[in-house]
Amino acid sequence: MGLCKITDGLLGICMIALSLLLAAIIRQRWRSSRRGSKLPLGSLGLPLLGETLEFVSCAYSPRPESFMDKRRVRYGKVFKSHIFGSPTIVSTDPEVTKFVLQSDARTFVPSYPRSLMELIGKSSILLINGGLQRRLHGLIGSFLKSPHLKAQITRDMQRYVDAMMGGWNDGQLVYVQDETKQVLVRALMSVEPGGDMQFLKQQFEVFIAGLMSLPVKMPGSRLYRSLQAKKKMVRMIQGIVEEKRRMREEESPSPSPSPSPPPPAAAAGSCAPPRDVMDALLGDNSGQLTDELISDNMIDLMIPGEDSVPLLMTLAVKYLSDCPLALRQLEEENTELMRRKSQSGELCWVDYVSLPFTQNVITETLRLGNINYGTMRKAMKDVEIKGYLIPKGWCVFTYFRSVHLDEALYKDPYEFNPWRWQEKDMGTCHYFTPFGGGQRLCPGLDLARLEASIFLHHLLANFTWVAEKDSVVNFPTVRMKGRMPIRVNRKGGREEERAGRAAHH
Ligand code: HEM
Repeated sequence: MGLCKITDGLLGICMIALSLLLAAIIRQRWRSSRRGSKLPLGSLGLPLLGETLEFVSCAYSPRPESFMDKRRVRYGKVFKSHIFGSPTIVSTDPEVTKFVLQSDARTFVPSYPRSLMELIGKSSILLINGGLQRRLHGLIGSFLKSPHLKAQITRDMQRYVDAMMGGWNDGQLVYVQDETKQVLVRALMSVEPGGDMQFLKQQFEVFIAGLMSLPVKMPGSRLYRSLQAKKKMVRMIQGIVEEKRRMREEESPSPSPSPSPPPPAAAAGSCAPPRDVMDALLGDNSGQLTDELISDNMIDLMIPGEDSVPLLMTLAVKYLSDCPLALRQLEEENTELMRRKSQSGELCWVDYVSLPFTQNVITETLRLGNINYGTMRKAMKDVEIKGYLIPKGWCVFTYFRSVHLDEALYKDPYEFNPWRWQEKDMGTCHYFTPFGGGQRLCPGLDLARLEASIFLHHLLANFTWVAEKDSVVNFPTVRMKGRMPIRVNRKGGREEERAGRAAHH
C-alpha cells in the first residue's frame, strides 16, 4: 500500500514535469514558427558580406533599383536581405514605408552604414531621438519655414543668380552642377563669400566624398580624409559659434527688474530675430544645445544645402533639356510672371512658388531623380506590419526609389512627365515621399522648392541653352557624371530688362 502510494506520487510528479516540458517545447516551436512564417521572404546572401556586393554593383548602374526589382518579382514588395553588415528588411511597399516613417524611437531609430554614422556623428539630428530631436527639428523647421527667411533667401538668391548669370557669355559652356552650389550656407550661419566660405566648401567636398565609404579609418583612406575634413570644419564653425555667443551677450540687455516675462528671443540673450539657423539654435535656452552639437549640425545641414538642392536644380535642367515641350511650357509660365511683375516691381517668394507648372516640374524632378533614395532605421523591438515580422535589432531600408518608379503607381515611370501632377494631389499622395515623412519629415522642403523655382525662373528668363551629353550617376550619391555642361546664349533684348530691373532694385 505504502509502496503503491509512493509510486503514484512519483508518477504524478513525472506527469506534471512532462506536461510542463511539452508545453515549453510547443511554445518554443510555436514562437519560432510564428517568427519563421512571418519573416519576409528573401536571402541573407553570403556570410558577413550578405548581398552588399550585388546591391552596390546595381547601385552604380543606371538602374540601381534592379537589385530590388529582381527580389520584388521573387519575394514580393517587402523582402529580407543582408546589406552593409546588417540583416535588413527592404520595403518597397508604400504602406509599410509609411508605418516605419511614422513610428517613433520606441519602435524604430535611424541607423546607417558605419562609415556614414561615424561621419555625421552621434549628435547629428539625423541620428538623435526623442525630446532632443523634436526640439532641434522644431527650431530648425520653424526658422526654415519663416516668411522672414524666405524673403531673405529670395533676395539673396536673386542677387546671387544675377551675379552668377551676369558673368556668363554667349556660347560659353557652364557646368550647372557647380554653379548651383552657393546660396544656402549663408542662410545656415551667415558666412559671407570669401576666404572662409571657400575653405568650408573645399573641406565639405572632401567630407561628402566619404559618406558611403568603407569603414576603414587608416591614414590615406577615404573615411579618414573625410573625418579630418569634418574636424577642420567643426573647428572653424565653433569659432563662429563662440563669436556669435559673445556678440549676443554684449547685445543682451541687462536684467530688468520688471516682473513681465521677456519675449522669447530676448530671453535667449538677444532682441534681434534670428538671421540664420545658427542664431535660431543659439537662441534656445533649454541648455540642451551645446556648442559642439550646434557645430556638428551645421555641417549636416550643409549636405542638403550644398548637395541636394543644387542637384535638384541640375536634374531639372537635365530633364528639361530632354523634354522640349515641358521646357516651352515652363518658359511661357515664367515669362508671363515676369511680364505681370515688370510694372509692380520686385518678385517675392510667393510669386515663385505659386507657379503651378514650375512646381509640377520640380515635383516630377524629385520623383524621377530620387536625390534621396531612401532612409534606414533599426527596429527596437519585434514589429509586425501588414503581416510581416521585423525582428528586433534588424534594419529596415525604406527604398523610395522603387516606389517612385513603380509602374503600378505611375504610368510610364521612367518618362519625365510634369503633367502627371496636374491630376494628382501631391499632398495626399502617400506613395510620393522624396522628403521622407512622419516626425523626421524634411524641414527644408519648402526652401528647396523655393530655391529651385528662383533658379529656373532666372535661367529661363535670360537664357536659352543646348545641353551637352551627360548622364546621371546614382551611387554613393546622385549626381551628374560630367557636372551637366550646357552651352548658354543670352536671350535677345533681355539685357535691357535686366538693366531695368537692376536700376529698379
Ligand atoms: C532637394 C532637397 C532635399 C531633399 C530631397 C531632402 C530629403 C530629406 C529626407 C528624405 C529626409 C528624411 C530623412 C529621414 O527620415 O531619416 C530629410 C531630413 C532632413 N532634411 Fe532634407 N531634403 C532636402 C533639402 C533640405 C534642406 C534645404 C534642408 C535645410 C537646410 C534640409 C534639412 C533636413 C533636416 C534637418 C532633416 C532631418 C530632420 C529630422 O531628422 O528631424 N533638407 N531630408
